[in-house]
Amino acid sequence: MSAVLDSDKQPLRHVRQSLPHDSAVKHVQGAALYIDDMPEPAGVLHIAVGGSPYARGKLIAVDLERVRAIHGVVAVLTAEDVPGKNDIAPAFADEPLLAEGQVLFHGQPVFAVVAESRDVARRAARLGAMTIVQEKPTVTVEDAHKRNETVLPDYAFRRGDASAAIQRAPHRVADVFRIGGQEHFYLEGQAALAIPGEDGSVHVHSSTQHPTEVQHVCARVLGLPDALVTAEVRRMGGAFGGKESQATQWAALAALAATVTGRPCKIRLDRDDDMAMTGKRHDFRVDWAAGFDDDGRIQGVEMAFLARCGCSADLSQGVVDRTMFHADGSYFLPELVIASRRLKTNTVSNTAFRGFGGPQGMLAMERIVDAIAWRLNRDPLDVRKANLYGPERDLTPYGMTVEDHDVGSAILDELERTSDYRARRAEIEAFNATSPILKRGIALTPVKFGISFTLSQLNQAGALVHVYSDGSVHLNHGGTEMGQGLYQKVAQVAAEEFGVGLDRLRITATTTDKVPNTSPTAASSGSDLNGMAAMIAARQIRDRLAAFAAEHFGVEASHVAFRDDCVFAGNQSVSFAELAKRAHAARIHLSAAGHYKTPKLHWDRPNGTGRPFFYFAYGAACSEVVLDTLTGENRVTRVDILHDVGRSLNPALDIGQIEGGFVQGMGWLTTEELVYDPHGRLRTHAPSTYKIPVASDVPADFRVALFPGENREETIYRSKAVGEPPLMLAISVFAALADALHGLSPGRPVPLDAPATPEAILKAVQALSTAG
Ligand code: MTE
Ligand code: MOS
Repeated sequence: MSAVLDSDKQPLRHVRQSLPHDSAVKHVQGAALYIDDMPEPAGVLHIAVGGSPYARGKLIAVDLERVRAIHGVVAVLTAEDVPGKNDIAPAFADEPLLAEGQVLFHGQPVFAVVAESRDVARRAARLGAMTIVQEKPTVTVEDAHKRNETVLPDYAFRRGDASAAIQRAPHRVADVFRIGGQEHFYLEGQAALAIPGEDGSVHVHSSTQHPTEVQHVCARVLGLPDALVTAEVRRMGGAFGGKESQATQWAALAALAATVTGRPCKIRLDRDDDMAMTGKRHDFRVDWAAGFDDDGRIQGVEMAFLARCGCSADLSQGVVDRTMFHADGSYFLPELVIASRRLKTNTVSNTAFRGFGGPQGMLAMERIVDAIAWRLNRDPLDVRKANLYGPERDLTPYGMTVEDHDVGSAILDELERTSDYRARRAEIEAFNATSPILKRGIALTPVKFGISFTLSQLNQAGALVHVYSDGSVHLNHGGTEMGQGLYQKVAQVAAEEFGVGLDRLRITATTTDKVPNTSPTAASSGSDLNGMAAMIAARQIRDRLAAFAAEHFGVEASHVAFRDDCVFAGNQSVSFAELAKRAHAARIHLSAAGHYKTPKLHWDRPNGTGRPFFYFAYGAACSEVVLDTLTGENRVTRVDILHDVGRSLNPALDIGQIEGGFVQGMGWLTTEELVYDPHGRLRTHAPSTYKIPVASDVPADFRVALFPGENREETIYRSKAVGEPPLMLAISVFAALADALHGLSPGRPVPLDAPATPEAILKAVQALSTAG
């Protein structure tokens, strides 16, 4: 395998090409089918959900008489209708499909209406009456911390004696920093269509990153073996982590309704329900202290991450672990405590979101580095460089050695040069000195992101490839398509193997009856895992074809080559289609399954040590901002990015991921704000109150470059994962805003939490210009 991966000796015809997304044309024509676009089967019914009006309480009774009386209502479902287990939790069996005995958050699904039309279902759902004995909800992390309510045990990484190291250090700072959550705001909301089949079986179309989890949960809820449930997804209209565990509830409701009524059942959440009823990025309070020397080099650090996990564990074990894994940022921390609490609140259960907790850890560390720079009156970039991983300073807080830290520092140095950072900083200082109202700021921040699922068993993938006797190829694998371009990348790999054009390849929907026991498409590992699995599958068929051609044409198998839709054997050649036909006639098996597992991984969680990641993806961004000190309004005026995708499988798709990830990160840190009131009600549940970035927020001057280099590990064509890491490049925007504010009162800490909304910036301006 490595012979091909290591070199591009033979010219590559499909891999590394900047090909458009496989559905690009269909996307813009409206011809790409999402679940709500699929032709509805005859007799389809529609589902609407009735949610809890209170965030916490005892659920005494649900009165559904008025709901049932509505013309067109076919069934009304509660927890009592669940034939199997009323549990949709991905890991810790702590989350019901429909509330039972108690309610745990405002909007929690209590009952479901199944009706002839969506409109009737939604109108009827409003008529349900619930008897609930209200209890005082736990809403904030402080409340939960005080009440000692958690969803999972506390967990920490430790090295040395951090507190003594901080005391010994020439300088010390300590502070509290808050980091907001984030709504996924995928354009296609949660959706599922379940079609009942024979013998109690059910086929579920679900907008999910994790078809196997949908299969498991539907089977568990219905009390069926997995083999009676099939989950299928052709594409999602965005997911961003929000359909990793969170799609199961809607799929299971549809499957339950289909089983109860014997008719196809469909659910598509309304945007407000989607925002109220599905989990978000975890928000945090971080209490930290750091000790450092005159150069700003950290000697000891203590960080305590208090995470709002919501009403159940969901994926909080992995998410908050990943926060801890990225709390070092790109920096060596000699002595440390990185502690975490997973707090239980009466809010919707928080979940995966692009970066899977990593961004919060990294942001906290960059915030610490800024605070150190402010204390020492140094350029934050110099403090960053002083703390980078390097020779003899290469051990992470979790015992993994950073072997290629030179890549991270090379990127930082190169971007410092190409962004003209030093000259621009001087120019910005001069501007600010003469500009009383508008203030500019700049920041250059690094990204180092660990690639692999930290739950090691998830690092595997399967693929299924058929060559038909006309030479067309059917490609299937366990990865899902959510807009990131995975299907196209994997197709490029398969086309390369067979030496055929992509037009010969049929990309097909992900479904649990073709490739079973799949991992979620998450942790950015989709192309690493499924690209390899598809290559392994395709190679088996190609090897059989090569052996057949060798015999058929009387040459050595090593003299058979596949390219340009042809097969060359010595100095003879036939079309790929002709060879497929002859091979089939000769009874050659033209179908294969491939399986791949990532090497080198081991992780000992109880002891907090091992190699949880196959490799790191690196990047850096330099952002410049201007803000108005009278209003807090601000703009990102220029962004320079240098990002490491190894040797790209498809530079156009990778650059798309970098730009999209960056802008999504910018939204998280500047405009998107989730507000829960003291009753635990989410007040920002629509675009009217929740502000995501739009086209006009994209930096006017946006320069994205790929770092030339290859993955030193044997990944698919030496590429690197790209889905999540670029989101963290946007930390440079937050740091640039803080830099502009710091200029108002140099040497003082900037009182700014994330998100840096205009209101938050204005408050910081006022604090900096009054106190001290
Ligand atoms: N890009 C688009 N367009 N839409 C998405 O939903 N999800 C992101 C990222 N990029 C997402 C996206 C997340 S959270 C992950 S983990 C990766 O894509 C998953 O896909 P990959 O592993 O194939 O990169
Ligand atoms: Mo991405 S948060 O790993 O789905």
